[in-house]
Amino acid sequence: MKQVRTKIAGMGYYVPENVVTNDDLAKVMDTNDEWIQERTGIKERRYVTRMKETAATMGVEASKKAMEKAGVTAEDIDFVIFATLSPDYFFPGCGVLVQRELGLDKVGALDIRNQCSGFIYGLSVADQFIKTGMYKNILLIGGEAHSSGLDFSTRGRNVTVIFGDGAGAVVLQPTEEDGKGVLTTHLHSDGRYAEKLAFINPGSHGGAHTGNTEYYDEDVYGELMMTQKIMDAGDRYPNMEGPFVFKNAVRRFPEVINEALSATGHSVEDIDMLIPHQANLRISQFVQSIMGLPDDKVFNNIQKYGNTTAASIPIALCEAYDAGKVKDGDLVCLAAFGSGFTWASALIRW
Ligand code: ACO
Repeated sequence: MKQVRTKIAGMGYYVPENVVTNDDLAKVMDTNDEWIQERTGIKERRYVTRMKETAATMGVEASKKAMEKAGVTAEDIDFVIFATLSPDYFFPGCGVLVQRELGLDKVGALDIRNQCSGFIYGLSVADQFIKTGMYKNILLIGGEAHSSGLDFSTRGRNVTVIFGDGAGAVVLQPTEEDGKGVLTTHLHSDGRYAEKLAFINPGSHGGAHTGNTEYYDEDVYGELMMTQKIMDAGDRYPNMEGPFVFKNAVRRFPEVINEALSATGHSVEDIDMLIPHQANLRISQFVQSIMGLPDDKVFNNIQKYGNTTAASIPIALCEAYDAGKVKDGDLVCLAAFGSGFTWASALIRW
């Protein structure tokens, strides 16, 4: 009997029209184009238009393109997975919004909260459902509307300049074509560093983990998610210990790529294209040099879009494919590292 694997049958992405350059950011905070490009490689990013675009609406647009490319319609989709850290609502998740907007049947909709690794985590989950024969057409989406929750004062500049908005989607199907499809996925986490790159308020922690109990009055109930004291302190944005994140990223990326290679009996020379999560161009370049990969085997587009977290891999994969850089028979490696910390990899024979 032939082995069933998961293939990417169609891909699509959507980025907002609204381009925000480094110079635009320098108008509202103390930063400059030179600093941002030197430290991150980013030249510009896209921001959603309020009242019009969200993580879910962008996910829907990306999904329509992916479904068209895969030659499937709403009736064919039998499961939805949506990875995001910037959902439209605290709850419910974006998966059900996509189910509604695309008019899908009453199929399952799963939301993934693994930040930059979210797309690969979603791919791994989908892969298990497809290999067991449970689903035949899974819609996997990564979408982020970061700009709705960033600190645009100078205080938030180390985080804010990095992130951008957008969405990418793929339709996953079973294939029995010899040797093709998702060969392996690897997922990891280390919660010791959960707060090193985090967006903790609003949340139900009430000061647990962080020790910031001064934000909460013991005799006030129903005011744990977002207290007036948190608002007054301005402690309601993502925070990141940049250098610490950088050091861990450049260690974990190569580790998890090598894990995928050795699990499948490949060596680094076998990789035709590495699509790393677009965290920071310097991180990608560091990983490329550790792995000894030539320039034409690593795809980066962070220069145009910034770091779009769960959306970055599907957007980059789609652009690489459209540019003819991912071809039939290629060995494609996806790898990610981010908040959690979580990190992950996948190897796909295209
Ligand atoms: N513009 C100008 N100056 C800035 C900015 C900015 N946007 N941000 C920080 N600075 C200043 C700091 O205040 C600091 O000034 P000081 O020396 O006077 O105190 C100086 O620049 C250096 O700050 P560092 O944070 O040490 O800067 P570093 O060289 O480490 O670069 C950066 C910061 C780019 C965030 C880097 O640490 C990094 O890339 N870290 C990895 C994090 C990353 O890529 N995260 C992406 C997310 S991971 C994931 O995808 C979830």
